[in-house]
Amino acid sequence: MKNLVIAVDGPAGAGKSTIAKLIAEKLNINYIDTGAMYRAITYKCLQNNIDINNEEEVIKIAKDCEIDFKDNNIYLNGEILKDEIRTMEVSNNVSNVAKIKEVRYLMVDVQRNIGKINSVILDGRDIGSYVFPNADYKFFLVATPEERGKRRYKELVNKGYDVNLEEIINDIIKRDEIDSNREFAPLVKADDAIEIDTTGKSINEVVQSVLSKINI
Ligand code: CDP
Ligand code: CDP
Repeated sequence: MKNLVIAVDGPAGAGKSTIAKLIAEKLNINYIDTGAMYRAITYKCLQNNIDINNEEEVIKIAKDCEIDFKDNNIYLNGEILKDEIRTMEVSNNVSNVAKIKEVRYLMVDVQRNIGKINSVILDGRDIGSYVFPNADYKFFLVATPEERGKRRYKELVNKGYDVNLEEIINDIIKRDEIDSNREFAPLVKADDAIEIDTTGKSINEVVQSVLSKINI
């Protein structure tokens, strides 16, 4: 049977990873959080005190990073990564790492190789438009910046972080802007993607709405 590839794209906090993970469980396929890959490179750069604006140095780090996924967890050079890639420091820098073309080439290679041998649902920004333009299904999730900011705020507060709602909304707006305006493989809705506005919708409502479009 042919591998199934499902693309889930959209701006920060739209619910992509939550929904994609649940769909992966329902369909018993792999889930790949492509944002975690760009976060992992950013984390490694920060750990090594690399200036994120120094593209050459960032590319060097990216080339030294081997990224794997096992049981929905990301591994960087064999070490599992968890909340250390979700800090505000990583969030504030990740879009400037992700706009570097050479970094994207490296990450997209990993993503395409996974899709070649497994049925997979991937969430990101350019999955339907660039990484898998022939994906079987493409979804584009959106919600207002205020709702997305509040969701992320709640999530971080529940994890015990001392965060500020305004700062989070500003980070989301700034990242969306950099992600949408970068030259190479920007955040964009693919022409054939199904757009779902998740504002005011529960996680279950969005999952049902996605599942209703999938025939397998
Ligand atoms: O979860 P959240 O929406 O905050 O972000 P993420 O999915 O973890 O992605 C973090 C950042 O990685 C994004 O803001 C983009 O700059 C970048 N990214 C990307 O450029 N392309 C992707 N396919 C996925 C993420
Ligand atoms: O991956 P992305 O940045 O698009 O968003 P996420 O990390 O899946 O979702 C951000 C937060 O919003 C999570 O805490 C979800 O539980 C929550 N969420 C929600 O409250 N309602 C939805 N319809 C979807 C997500």
